[in-house]
Amino acid sequence: MSNLLSPADRRDPSHPAAGAPTFAVISGAEVQQALTGREKQLVELIDATYRLHGAGESVNPPSYFLRFPDRPTSRIIALPASLGGQTRVDGLKWISSFPANVDSGLPRASAVLILNDHDTGYPFACLESSVISATRTAASAALAADRLSRTRTRPTRVGFFGTGLIARYIHTYLAGTGWTFDEIGVYDVSADSTEGFRGYLHQAGTTGRVSVHGSPEALIRSSDLVVFATVAGEPHVTDPAWFDHNPLVLHVSLRDLAPEILLGSANVVDDVEHCLKANTSPHLAEQLTRGRDFLDGTLDDVLTGRLTPPADRTVIFSPFGLGVLDLAVGKFVYDEVARAGQLHLIDDFFHDLHRYG
Ligand SMILES: NC(=O)c1ccc[n+]([C@@H]2O[C@H](COP(=O)([O-])OP(=O)(O)OC[C@H]3O[C@@H](n4cnc5c(N)ncnc54)[C@H](O)[C@@H]3O)[C@@H](O)[C@H]2O)c1
Repeated sequence: MSNLLSPADRRDPSHPAAGAPTFAVISGAEVQQALTGREKQLVELIDATYRLHGAGESVNPPSYFLRFPDRPTSRIIALPASLGGQTRVDGLKWISSFPANVDSGLPRASAVLILNDHDTGYPFACLESSVISATRTAASAALAADRLSRTRTRPTRVGFFGTGLIARYIHTYLAGTGWTFDEIGVYDVSADSTEGFRGYLHQAGTTGRVSVHGSPEALIRSSDLVVFATVAGEPHVTDPAWFDHNPLVLHVSLRDLAPEILLGSANVVDDVEHCLKANTSPHLAEQLTRGRDFLDGTLDDVLTGRLTPPADRTVIFSPFGLGVLDLAVGKFVYDEVARAGQLHLIDDFFHDLHRYG
C-alpha cells in the first residue's frame, strides 16, 4: 500500500486532512505523463495482476456489450472489476469502440475509468482511459511475447497485421522491454494506416528492416511473431498452411483467425470464461468442437510454471482483456499523480452527506 493520503484517510476525523470523500479527475495528458517510459514497470504490474487474478484475488464479471441496431459496427463495453492483494480497489471501465471515427481522424476507442474506494464504495477518481486501456493491452502483449517464447526460439521477425493505435502501443511495449527485431513486417487493408505506422516506426528510431507486405499470407509466412490488431468482426485468415513455420501469434483483436487455425495450434488465453464469448475465434472453436479441449491454459498457467508452451507448434495467445488490468494501471496512475501533488479534486463533488440534513 502506498503511503499516500487515501480517500479513507481523508475521511478519518482523527486525520489532519479529514473531511468529505474526495473525487479527482485525471486527464489523458496526466495519464500519459504518469505512464510514459515505464514499460518494464508496467509489464511487471500486469504480470502481478494476472497472478492475483489466477490466485482468485479478484472479481471480474463478464463484460457487458452495449450494441446499437442503427450502428452495427459500434459498441460500448462496461468492464466492472475488483482487485484485491495490496491494491484493493474496485471500479468500472466504460469503453466505446466506434471504428468509423478513424475516417474523421479520431481514434476508434474512447474511455473513462472509475475507481471506487475499497471500504466505502465511494468513487474517488475518474480517469481518461483510452491510454490506460491501450497501455494494459500492450503490456499484456509484451509480457505474453516474452513468457510464451522462453521455451521456444526467441522471435526476430515481427509482423503487425493491422497497424492502428493498438499496434503502435504494442510495438512501443515490445521495444521498451528489450525486444529488437531484424525485420518488422506490416500489413493493413488501409494504405493510410500502413504509412502512419511506418512514420511512427521511423520516429521511434527503429532499427531493423521495415517491410510492407502486399498480402496477409506474405506477412504471416515471413514473421515468427505475428501481432493481430485489426477491427475484423469475423475470421478472414483461414489457411492453416500459412502457419507451417509455427510462429508465436498475439491474437489481440480476437476475431481474425478461423477456428481451424486454432485447432492446429497451442492456445493460451487470459481467462477461459471471458475469452469463450462474443464470437471470438476461441468461442467459434468451442462451438465447432463442442468442447474446450483445444485450450492449453491461461497466461497465468505459463507465468506460474503449470504450462510450458510447445516449441514445435504454433502458439496463439488470445487475450479477452480483463477489467482488473485497467484497475491496476488506473490505480498506479492515481498514485503517481497524487504522489506528485497534482490531483485535481472536484470541490463539493459529494454533497448532502449528512443523513438528516
Ligand atoms: N484484447 C484486448 O484486450 C484488446 C484491447 C484493446 C483493443 N483491442 C482490439 O485491438 C484492435 C485494434 O484496435 P485499434 O485501436 O488499433 O484500432 P484502429 O482502428 O486504430 O486500427 C485497426 C487497423 O486494422 C486495420 N484493419 C481492419 N481490418 C483489417 C483486415 N481485415 N486486415 C488488415 N487490417 C485490417 C484497419 O485498417 C486499421 O488500420 C480492435 O479490434 C480492438 O478491439 C483488443
